[in-house]
Amino acid sequence: MKVRINDSYEELSEAAAEFVINHIAYKPNSVLGLAAGGTPLLLYKLLGDACKEGRVDFSRVRTFNLDEYIGLPTDHPQSYRYFMQKNLFDHINIRDENIMSPDGMADDIALECGRYRAAIEAVGGIDLMILGIGPNAHIGFNEPGNCFVPDTHVVELSEATRQANARFFTKPEEPPHWAISVGVREIMFSQNILLLASGAGKTQALWQAVRGDITPEAPASILRLHRNVLLLADHAAAARLG
Ligand code: F6R
Repeated sequence: MKVRINDSYEELSEAAAEFVINHIAYKPNSVLGLAAGGTPLLLYKLLGDACKEGRVDFSRVRTFNLDEYIGLPTDHPQSYRYFMQKNLFDHINIRDENIMSPDGMADDIALECGRYRAAIEAVGGIDLMILGIGPNAHIGFNEPGNCFVPDTHVVELSEATRQANARFFTKPEEPPHWAISVGVREIMFSQNILLLASGAGKTQALWQAVRGDITPEAPASILRLHRNVLLLADHAAAARLG
């Protein structure tokens, strides 16, 4: 894992945007895996700006959202599909048919997981996976547990994750209990992984990911077995990496 520590969230986001822009220039039909949440917000804004300036072209790019809450329709303001639409897709020249996300409203969620898994396989996997990290070291919604789950699956969200994400909802009890998430094998089979971590709330998780045991109790720790991970962190998140 390559670790680059940046002075600020802004610097980290700029470095991440340059990385993504260069990746798309190198492979214009890239398949991107996209995390939602607070950390990549500025990265997504910078990508939108770059697209408007003609510095990046998303017309052949395909994207897979990493996860989705079960029970939230795509037009619900807290659904990750909506999040990505407002924060990225509305600002870039991506084609609608190239945007993929798990359907948290599917009648048969097990079938939906299979469909998503097959869709990722059909494009040959992810070229560049953009990940955040949860305060409990989750990636996607792969929560700490006693085994790694390989493929897209249903997850019961931990209380820690629901609390961390409550800031996006009006009431603390509102975050759904269940989600669909891509699995660890799908993440690990990506050609490149960009892991972003910002703020003191991520210090412990980042230590577990980079210095702790490789264990499903800290899902991000498995990224150390991948040959092409770039971690972009700010000083606060990297405080314990030494
Ligand atoms: C969301 C996702 C999660 C987040 C993580 C960090 O699609 O994959 O793993 O990346 O929960 O969230 P923030 O960036 O809000 O701290």
